[in-house]
Amino acid sequence: MCGIVGGVAERSITNILIEGLKRLEYRGYDSAGVALVDQCQILRERRVGKVANLEQAVNESNIQGSLGIAHTRWATHGKPTENNAHPHISDTVAVVHNGIIENYQELKDDLEALGYVFTSQTDTEVVAHLIHDALKSTPDLLKAVTQIVPQLKGAYALGIVHTDHPNELIAVREGSPLVIGVGIGENFISSDQLALLPVTNRFIYLEEGDIVRLTRESIEIFVDDQLIDRPVKELDATVSNASKGEYKHYMLKEIYEQPEAIQQTISQALNGNALRDDFLQHAEVDFKNIQQVQIIACGTSYHAGMIAKYWFEQLIDLPCQVEIASEFRYRSPVIVGNTLYVCISQSGETADTLAALRDTQKRAKAKSLNITTMTICNVATSSMVRETNHHLLTLAGPEIGVASTKAFTTQLAALMLLILKIGQIKQTMPVEKIAEITAELWHIPKVILDTLQNDKEILRLSDLFKEKQHCLFLGRGTQFPIALEGALKLKEISYIHAEGYAAGELKHGPLALVDHDMPVVILAPQDDMLDKLKSNMEEVQARGGELFVFADENSGIKNKDRQHVVNVPTISSLLAPIVYSIPVQLLSYHVAVLRGTDVDQPRNLAKSVTVE
Ligand code: G6P
Repeated sequence: MCGIVGGVAERSITNILIEGLKRLEYRGYDSAGVALVDQCQILRERRVGKVANLEQAVNESNIQGSLGIAHTRWATHGKPTENNAHPHISDTVAVVHNGIIENYQELKDDLEALGYVFTSQTDTEVVAHLIHDALKSTPDLLKAVTQIVPQLKGAYALGIVHTDHPNELIAVREGSPLVIGVGIGENFISSDQLALLPVTNRFIYLEEGDIVRLTRESIEIFVDDQLIDRPVKELDATVSNASKGEYKHYMLKEIYEQPEAIQQTISQALNGNALRDDFLQHAEVDFKNIQQVQIIACGTSYHAGMIAKYWFEQLIDLPCQVEIASEFRYRSPVIVGNTLYVCISQSGETADTLAALRDTQKRAKAKSLNITTMTICNVATSSMVRETNHHLLTLAGPEIGVASTKAFTTQLAALMLLILKIGQIKQTMPVEKIAEITAELWHIPKVILDTLQNDKEILRLSDLFKEKQHCLFLGRGTQFPIALEGALKLKEISYIHAEGYAAGELKHGPLALVDHDMPVVILAPQDDMLDKLKSNMEEVQARGGELFVFADENSGIKNKDRQHVVNVPTISSLLAPIVYSIPVQLLSYHVAVLRGTDVDQPRNLAKSVTVE
């Protein structure tokens, strides 16, 4: 989704802003722009397409300035054109915006009545004109912004500069993430700290409703006109762990990082084959009381939740519901006391998940219900982590590829750790079982490494997909969500239409689609359902379908005509979904590369969906 970078410094910040935008490219966007203030003038360049196009334009015009704002736009209101790209200008004011101004049409009508002429179809342009209008009654930029903010409905983060204020950058956070990068004699803003890592590792994470005035020497944060303090946090992420290294794409790097990422994630919780005493220690009282679990998530994170439902119910006899956040938040769900509400989110900023969480908290408060909230998240400083009672971090490191890979498998590892902890606290899982599962968890990184050895074989099979238009993924039990995830991965990055199904549903519809042209991917670990799955495979073959089977090495499923088998190392059926994620990720990756799509930044998609 849209990305913001801005700064105020002594030196020219043109290159810092462009480099920052490059580091936000992973979020997904369709145009980019920059505005610099120099000698009481706004110098602006905007381009459709990649930041590289903008960079070229900036190099040619050689615009420089020590105060500026820049933006990558993911179109919501108006097509991806140069006129719609940010920053938007109203004479002396320039604005970048992430989010949506829901009442922009009303505001636009009022502004047009005042004589303002709009040059874009965006919701953002109203903000520039509103500030310009407010400045007619005060010369103070901060005051003007503070005056107009209550008129804006929706979710937004803003960066604002003015030609008469060469040492002043105003920022607003209301529903979309924004962070301040604290420099020495210079200060910055961005929607993601990653963009600013080349210039600082000291950050202030803004909260909803914060309005900020940055100068080279000062940072002032206001809430309801009162100056307040927010802590400066030092981040130990480095520039290098957010770069591609020797890999052709971030996605491939992130697929290969999974053994390490899982190792990190479980190490925070385990001591040998037992849970560490301090693991989720503060949550123990709350966990003791919970009677059920409600998971809320979107996209790939939702699939992780689906697998956890099997685990919660099978392993510790705790009822668990899972729901897509965008549905949950709008269907007036009954909030039940003694429930653990778990948000699963890589970013911790997904608009629907965050809204569902806040809504749940509000409803519980209104009814005086005792609930516990928790986030499983990859970003320690995110809104969800800050707003839930407890959190469990996936220590996957920055995930840049839009298609989630290592965030997903570490979410699964984290969910299993959570289940072990609740089982231990509620005494619904015996110590021996905890020891057995932890031993298996420690073994997972090695099994993934072995599974990655199949990369070349999967690349070879990917060639058979590159001309296909459709594809089915089938699995049973915890492999059903992996089938959904495999289909999601393939459609996200290769643009092949793919559907995931519970294999038992084959006869209830998808079998009608099976013909010579329909590849069917089967997930076949060694579990109680294997024989049933083999029958489903027969049914596909009898209709001329071509099978691509990721199967346990001891499954007895062999290569034959129109049946291609990739052997996956044997793993307990419990943790098999973690391991079977790997071949479906590799398959999607290679098919996408062979089809020549933009693997890390697929069309129309965004990494962090911060608007509805
Ligand atoms: C977007 C991303 C997906 C991600 C989903 C949920 O659609 O492209 O990879 O699974 O958002 O994001 P979250 O950060 O909440 O896990």
